[in-house]
Amino acid sequence: MSATRSLVTGVGGYLPAEIVTNDDLAQTVDTSDAWIQERTGIRQRRRAAKDEATSDLAVEAARRALAAAGRTPADLDLIIVATTTPDLTFPATAAIVQRKLGAPVGVAFDVQAVCSGFVYALAVADGFVARGQSRCALVIGAEIMTRLLDYQDRTTCVLFGDGAGAFVLEPGAGQGTKADRGLLATALRCDGTKQDLLYVDGGPSTSGAVGHLRMAGQQVFRHAVVNIAEAVRAAADAAGVDMAEVDWFIPHQANQRILQGVAHRLGIEESRVVSTVAEHANTSAASIPLALDAAMADGRIGPGALLILEAMGGGLTWGAATLRL
Ligand code: ACO
Repeated sequence: MSATRSLVTGVGGYLPAEIVTNDDLAQTVDTSDAWIQERTGIRQRRRAAKDEATSDLAVEAARRALAAAGRTPADLDLIIVATTTPDLTFPATAAIVQRKLGAPVGVAFDVQAVCSGFVYALAVADGFVARGQSRCALVIGAEIMTRLLDYQDRTTCVLFGDGAGAFVLEPGAGQGTKADRGLLATALRCDGTKQDLLYVDGGPSTSGAVGHLRMAGQQVFRHAVVNIAEAVRAAADAAGVDMAEVDWFIPHQANQRILQGVAHRLGIEESRVVSTVAEHANTSAASIPLALDAAMADGRIGPGALLILEAMGGGLTWGAATLRL
């Protein structure tokens, strides 16, 4: 049965220039490089410059993804930005990105599912592309997490970094089978009763301030491994794909121990898991496209590869996507 698939025709990433090492953080917070590396695998993270906004990071990643796809901003009719650190309360960061790119009037909006935002945004974009409502879509994950952190709280401030990653999606004809290229299936979840485990303690209709990220780390850790594994299985089953057929897993880069825990639970060899957590730390909605961009840039992943993307974040939200490049 023929099917219109959302093909990923371009991938791009952008990391701000400033590198903040664990030793840099240890100058002002009671922590150490050894503790951070042992518990998280993180060695460094990037920090956006004072005059950089989330939309600036998003635009850089978008330009690179468009170039990889052989497209220009003039081709775009849909822009979705997954972010939990928007430039402004409104308009949507996607609208600001549209203006900065010089893209024509079209559909543009943000998706807020925290670290799961990119997987959510892909599923939403697929709704437009596969139904013929978009010929050229940009899906961006972009975050300046360092501006949500409480630098008095060593349990959270060492974990996050800034960055952006983007996919260009375009429609392509498929047979409706797992051999098709493009997005094959997604599985999305949210359990709002777990809000207190991971949230920001501010907002326009409550405190009136931006607030800081708060997290019950050990409980998040436990939920992450169980929840992500379930969503990965669901996204693989919905695509009719066996775990053994998957070439690469592109996880949200929260913590090396979570990556290992999920891989172990699913029986996946670590050699098939892309990890950028050491260099990027947790860039929330940006981490999946940044990880794929890195693995494509070094030649590990190329056209035809069967991928599973997965994430978990505040909400709690979580989800996975099966995708053939
Ligand atoms: N440096 C040094 N010591 C620290 C630090 C730090 N940065 N942070 C905590 N500690 C201390 C604690 O105070 C505690 O000390 P105590 O025993 O004297 O009380 C000790 O280290 C152990 O603390 P735990 O919380 O038990 O450490 P744990 O091994 O659980 O590691 C961590 C903490 C890294 C946060 C872990 O729980 C984790 O990774 N959780 C998942 C967090 C995550 O990835 N969240 C993001 C996912 S969702 C999203 O991306 C939004």
